[in-house]
Formats: sequence, structure tokens, C-alpha cells
Amino acid sequence: MDAGRLRFTDNLDDALDGVTVAFVCVGTPAREDGSPNLSYIQAVAEAAATIATGELVLVEKSTVPADTGRRLRETVDRIRRTTPGPDIHIASNPEFLREGTAVDDTLNPDRIVLGTDTDWAAAQLDAVYAPVVTAQHVPVIHTDVPTAELIKHASNAFLATRISFINAVAQICERVGADVEQVADGMGLDQRIGRAFLSAGLGYGGSCFPKDVDGFAHLASQVGYRFGLLDEVRAINIGQRQWVLDQLTDQLWHLEGKTVALLGAAFKPGTDDLREAPAMWLTDRLRHAGAHVRIWDPVALDQVAHQAPWLDRRTDVADALDGADAAVIATDWPELADVRPQIFADRMTNPLLIDGRNLLDGTRYAAAGVTYQEGDIYPRDLQAALV
Ligand code: UGA
Repeated sequence: MDAGRLRFTDNLDDALDGVTVAFVCVGTPAREDGSPNLSYIQAVAEAAATIATGELVLVEKSTVPADTGRRLRETVDRIRRTTPGPDIHIASNPEFLREGTAVDDTLNPDRIVLGTDTDWAAAQLDAVYAPVVTAQHVPVIHTDVPTAELIKHASNAFLATRISFINAVAQICERVGADVEQVADGMGLDQRIGRAFLSAGLGYGGSCFPKDVDGFAHLASQVGYRFGLLDEVRAINIGQRQWVLDQLTDQLWHLEGKTVALLGAAFKPGTDDLREAPAMWLTDRLRHAGAHVRIWDPVALDQVAHQAPWLDRRTDVADALDGADAAVIATDWPELADVRPQIFADRMTNPLLIDGRNLLDGTRYAAAGVTYQEGDIYPRDLQAALV
């Protein structure tokens, strides 16, 4: 900002003045039926076509279905019929940023995907990314617009599928007495598979995977393909949460009047984002079952106060555990691994710990007298019965 290369404005005329590349980053919130609300994108395209004073590349950065580029083209052409002006090129340049590491992901991307419909637009985008590409030797993929849109959809849906796959494997592991973390390690060493996104537990949350899996399934059905795999990915993901709830009921008999400490509120570590967070799903169900819910999180308690003011918030883990009948690790915050097992044993009325993220070394907790259950645990008596 000091060098005058970055500035902010809430005036669109000002924002587009003298600009050749405009990235559209507006929200695309999910509607009831899972389809994304694209009205904000359309509004930006209409405004840009009305305002632009020079040749412009209008770049989709928001995650959008794979025919948005065509719709944007139609929108701009419709405006052009009554408002003549310079050429506007449509492009898709999906982002692959993770919350909490977005700046690093921007400067060190695995790949840059440029979907354009003209050589001029491709050249403008190449120039934008030249410093990052040159410095980091980042591969650039040039495609048409719908292909770029689909790369984003397919990437997120595939990562979500990996998580649900390992969660399904985790259920099998418990039934046969295997260790899912070691299974994932063993699979991950195969270079064709890799270890990333094979951590079993409470499943995926956040503003991207749940919405994008729904959006991709919706797009598939719109074009006449039943993408049943994605239905199962969603079902497994919700099943993991339900399963923790079932475990609590199983262990505590009923939840009425019981105190449950939820350790972690955010959908993942490194953020205070509660959108689609498994912890928030659990709090709602526990509350309706009559439990008293306490919640600890190192950064998200302000968001919790805003979204669920009725929740009993604790800034200290030991304090959250005081007199509790059960504790659930809902977010894999690294600081939880530093809490000594004895704290769980001493502070809780009933030291039952469900490790919903497979974060801890269970043997240490069992040695301290804590009833430790991994997030993928299957009832022992049933397992014994099966054996
Ligand atoms: C995700 C993608 O990773 C980004 O590449 C993408 O750009 C972004 O969505 C987006 O579409 O904007 P993000 O939502 O920030 O990024 O979160 P992730 O780090 O991918 O984690 C998503 C969820 O999966 C979290 O709840 C996490 O706890 C869970 N997860 C992740 C697992 O349950 N197991 C794993 O092995 C990995």
C-alpha cells in the first residue's frame, strides 16, 4: 500500500478505471437446493460491461458452476446491444487457497489454471502471474473457460471424496481391530496415492467442501448425470458426526443433564470460521438432547458468542473439563496434544474422551485412567460379538 500498488475502494467506476484485468471475487452462497446463488456475479458483470472504458478481461475467481462463463458472456453481450463499448473477454482462474494459509498458497501455488476464450485474454493473465510463475517455476495450464471451472469443482469434490473414503475405511478398521492412521500412512507412501487428505475423524466442514460437493452434484443432475458417488461422500461425512453423538449416548446412557465439553469449535485449526463446523452441528444436537454443552477454542470463541450465545464458553481446557461427563475433540488444534492426560482424569467427573480427530496417543490417556475412544471407534461389545 505504501508503494501505491494496492488500494481499496467501494466505488466500481474507480475500481475499473484504466484496468485491463478484473477479478470477480464476490460470494456465491448456497441456496436451499444446493445450487449457488449467482446473482452477485451477474450484477458485477452487468456493471463492468456498463462502466468499462477500455478492453477488459473479466475473470471468475469465485467458485462457480461450469456454465457460468457462458452466462457471463451472454450477460455482457446483452448489455453491449444497448451500450456499445470496448471488448470484454471472459476468463476463469479458479483459486485453490485454504483458509489460514491463503497468502502462502497464493505465492507458492501447485498450479495456475487459466481458462480463457481469446489469446489476448490469455496473454493478459500470463502477464499478471509472470512474477509468481518465474520465481517458483509453477506449472500453468491454459484451457477454455468451462474446463477451468471444472478443474476447481473436481479438485474440491475429489479432496472431499478422499476424506469420506478414509472415514469409511476407519469404520472398517474399528470392526476388524486395525489402526486407520497406520492404514492411511501405508496407503500414503504409494506415490500414486499420497498421504494428504487421508486423516479420518469428524469429517470435513467449512465454507467450501460442503457447498462445492452439493454444487457439483447439482450441476451433474442439471446436465443429466446422477453423480451417486457424491451423495455417498456427503452421507459418510454426516454419518461421522452422527456417530460421535451415538457414541456419547451409548456411553452416557442418556444425555439429559449431562455435561459435555467440546474441545474445538472452528471447522479446522488455524481459523475462527464456524461455517459447517462439525462442532456446531454437535452442539445443536447435544443441546436438543438436554445436555449442558461447554466449548473451548483458542480463537473462535468470539464467533461462538455471536452464533450460539447460549453456549457455555471456556478459555481454558482444564476449566472446560471441570466436572464434565464427556469430552469430544472436535478440532485438531495442536495445543490439545499438550494437555496432560492427568488433567482429563482429575478434572472430569467421568473421564470419557472421544478423540474426534484422532489427534492424541490413546495409550497415554488410557494409562492415566481416561476412557479414550478414537473418532472412528466402534462399540467394543459389538465388535466382540462380531468376532
Ligand atoms: C479447501 C481446499 O483445500 C482449497 O484448495 C480450496 O481452495 C478451498 O477449499 C476453496 O474452495 O476455497 P479449506 O476449506 O480452507 O480449503 O479447508 P481444508 O484445509 O481443505 O479442510 C477442509 C475440511 O476438511 C476441514 O474441516 C478439515 O478438518 C477436513 N479434513 C481435511 C479432514 O477431515 N481430513 C483431512 O485429511 C483433511
